[in-house]
Amino acid sequence: MNDRVSSGSTPIMPPSTAALERAVAILQGGGLVSFPTETVYGLGADAENVEATQKIFSAKGRPADHPLIVHLASLDQIDGWAREIPADARRLAERFWPGPLTLILRRGPRSLDVVTGGLDTVGLRVPGHPVALELLRRFGGGIAAPSANRFGRVSPTRAVHVREELGDRVDLILDGGDCSVGLESTIVDASGATPSILRPGAVTAEQLAEELGRPLVAPAEDAPRAPGRMASHYAPEAVVELVERGGMIERLPQVLAVRRRVAVIAPSIPPNIPAFDEWLKRGRVVFVESSPDLEVLARSLYELLREIDRLGCDGALVELPTDAGLGAAIIDRLRKAAGLG
Ligand code: TXA
Ligand code: MG
Repeated sequence: MNDRVSSGSTPIMPPSTAALERAVAILQGGGLVSFPTETVYGLGADAENVEATQKIFSAKGRPADHPLIVHLASLDQIDGWAREIPADARRLAERFWPGPLTLILRRGPRSLDVVTGGLDTVGLRVPGHPVALELLRRFGGGIAAPSANRFGRVSPTRAVHVREELGDRVDLILDGGDCSVGLESTIVDASGATPSILRPGAVTAEQLAEELGRPLVAPAEDAPRAPGRMASHYAPEAVVELVERGGMIERLPQVLAVRRRVAVIAPSIPPNIPAFDEWLKRGRVVFVESSPDLEVLARSLYELLREIDRLGCDGALVELPTDAGLGAAIIDRLRKAAGLG
C-alpha cells in the first residue's frame, strides 16, 4: 500500500471509508497523503517517521530548515508534542481549535528535529475540516503537513491543484472539495511570555486580542521566519503589483507601456478610464472580478492568482482590500505575490 502509484497520475479520491483506510495505510507505511483542511490542502506524512517527513521536503523542493506544522486530532493529544503550554496558548487552543490557528510552542520529545528544523519549538494545529479530523483520528498520531504546493508557489485550495503541483510525488490525494478559508492558518508564537503573530490568517489579530484581553505584540527581531515572511513566496509567473482603490486610472496606462497583457483584479471595473473597453477588446487588458466580501476574497485569492497565469498575462494590477480583520491576511499574501515580502 505504501508503494507509489506507478502508472498514470496519483489518484484523487473522495473521502470514503475505503479511501481513508488507504490513506492511513499509506501514512503508516511511510508514504505521503495530501488531505484537505479548511485553510489549504496539506501534504502529510507520519510526523514521527524521519524518512517519511524527509519525503515531504523532496516532494516540495523545500529547504530542510523550514519547519513543518504537526496536525493533531484534538487538544488532548498535545502532550509529548509540546513540553509546556502557557496559559495564553491553552486559552487560544480552547477557543480556536479545531480551526485555522497554528501555535508555536516549546517542543516535546515526540517533535523530531526533521519536523522542527532543529528549533526548540514546534508548530501545532488541530484543523477544522471534517476529512482532516477523521484522517487524524483514524491515524492516531501527529501528521506533519506543509501546504501541498511546490516550494515558493501558490498553496492549493482544490484537490486538482495538488495534482498540478506535485504530480506523482504524492501517493494519494483525498478530495474534500474547495477549502472554505483559502489562506494558510494564522501562526501565533506562544512559546514565550508574550504571544505574537508570525503569519496573519483567518483567526484575526482582533479576535486574538479579544480572547487574550490585550493586543498581541509584534514578533521579536530574532523570531524564526515563517514562510509567510519570505519575499515572493506565493508568486504567480506574472509581475503582480498592488494598487490602492482609485489608483488604477494612473497606474494601468504606465504598466501597459511595459507589459503585453495585464490582468486587472478588482471588485468592479475601474471607473473613468476611457480606453478601458478598447484595451479589453484588443486583449491588452483582462478584467478579473474579485469579491468585495473579505471571506469570499480570501477563499478565492489563490485561484485568482492562478487565473493570472492561465490567462496568459505577464502583468497584474490588484486592488487592495481594507486592512481590517481578514483583510490583513489577504494583503499579507498579496504582498508576497507582489514580491514585497
Ligand atoms: O494552514 C496551514 O497552516 C497549512 C495547512 C496544511 O495546515 N499549512 C501550512 O504549512 O501552511 P507551511 O509549511 O506551508 O507553513 C507553515 C510554516 C512553516 O513553514 C514555518 O515557517 C512555520 O509554519 N513554522 C512551523 N514551525 C515553526 C516553528 N517552530 N517556529 C516558527 N515557525 C514555524
Ligand atoms: Mg506553504
